[in-house]
Amino acid sequence: MQTLIINIKELLQVRETAIEKVSGSEMAILPTLKNAFLLIENDTIVSYGSMENCPKNRADKTIDASGKIVLPSWCDSHTHIVYVGNREQEFVDRINGLSYEEIANRGGGILNSAKRLNEASEDEIYNQSKKRLKEIMLLGTGSVEIKSGYGLTVEGELKMLRVIKKLAENYPITIKATFLGAHAFPTEYKENHTGYIDIIINEMLPKIAAEKLADYIDAFCEIGYFSVEEIELIMEAGKKYGLRSKIHVNQFTVINGIKACVKHDALSVDHLEMVTDDDISDLKNSKTMPVALPSCSYFINIPYTPARKMIDAGLPLALASDFNPGTSPSGNMNFVVATACIKMKMTPQEAINAATLNGAYAMGISNTHGSITIGKKANLIITKPLNSFYELPYAFGSNLIEQVMINGKIIS
Ligand code: NIG
Ligand code: FE
Repeated sequence: MQTLIINIKELLQVRETAIEKVSGSEMAILPTLKNAFLLIENDTIVSYGSMENCPKNRADKTIDASGKIVLPSWCDSHTHIVYVGNREQEFVDRINGLSYEEIANRGGGILNSAKRLNEASEDEIYNQSKKRLKEIMLLGTGSVEIKSGYGLTVEGELKMLRVIKKLAENYPITIKATFLGAHAFPTEYKENHTGYIDIIINEMLPKIAAEKLADYIDAFCEIGYFSVEEIELIMEAGKKYGLRSKIHVNQFTVINGIKACVKHDALSVDHLEMVTDDDISDLKNSKTMPVALPSCSYFINIPYTPARKMIDAGLPLALASDFNPGTSPSGNMNFVVATACIKMKMTPQEAINAATLNGAYAMGISNTHGSITIGKKANLIITKPLNSFYELPYAFGSNLIEQVMINGKIIS
């Protein structure tokens, strides 16, 4: 099955040779091709070029993209879309003056979602989560990382990871699963951290590995959650099962977690609302991708990741949605890209690089996703007619996507 897209006003993120990520000043460069064609065979990009060189033989399907922009679909490397119920009461509590920390201390927050998840059946969790997955696909996300972390019991964590596996089997979107047993301490382990960490390492991990339910391991490194020493134990244990880490760190405070993550060769460090010069130098020349989550900053009114400072220091940066019921009840990557431009002063070129190629890197799939490169997956966004791609972040409240292609098929 061949699909040919013709008359593309501008084809974005065209990379002749596959590169794994872009860093520092490279992030300002978004290679594009004007008046282009793109040829897809089954689920793979097989050719592209300018319209003068467009293949003359008929494809099985031809899409005319006159006036429209085509780009790789969003690669959302950090989400928690498997959850039960919402937390809109906490949202209103915050408006009335409570902080995220105060809400968590009252039994709200992560423990609130964990309670609901443990009460729900696997089918119920699946049915609620699939709606969010479909929603983000239509918003242009073609690959996504999904975490567990609202179970916090052996059964609950396994249930979440099985739901993620089932979603991956039933939907075309590429899904990477991350085990986040170390998301918070269940109430009964508040004073017995070793007890819960022992369960994570000696009960949850072996079962998850035996069922091959996770690709990565995560932990929430923060005061009141997991200390640096504790996340090091988690990262070490993950490595024994071949799970590289992707760590929640520097969301509210700096407790030197980034240094430990780099030491353990984490694939990514995520949140980074607070970043010091030492953190930047630790990340320099590492293989760890910093990931910013601007919807979380927006929603709970905390600082934005200092993207300018980090990129200007030569670091790469990825953007993700953090879709979750507590700090970012939105998986809209178009909003993420716009907010990165508006609030973090990233240029549209930098933000698109961060939400495609670097996002793919942050979930270990940049060899197959994140750019228009021969041999990569045909995961694409076809926009409505636009003046230029600047309009994508500029018109931040509009849905400018006309069609989404995942694995070579237009989804609806
Ligand atoms: O990425 N910070 C830790 N975890 C989530 C929030 C979880 C929740 O509030 O349910 C986050 O922001
Ligand atoms: Fe998160």
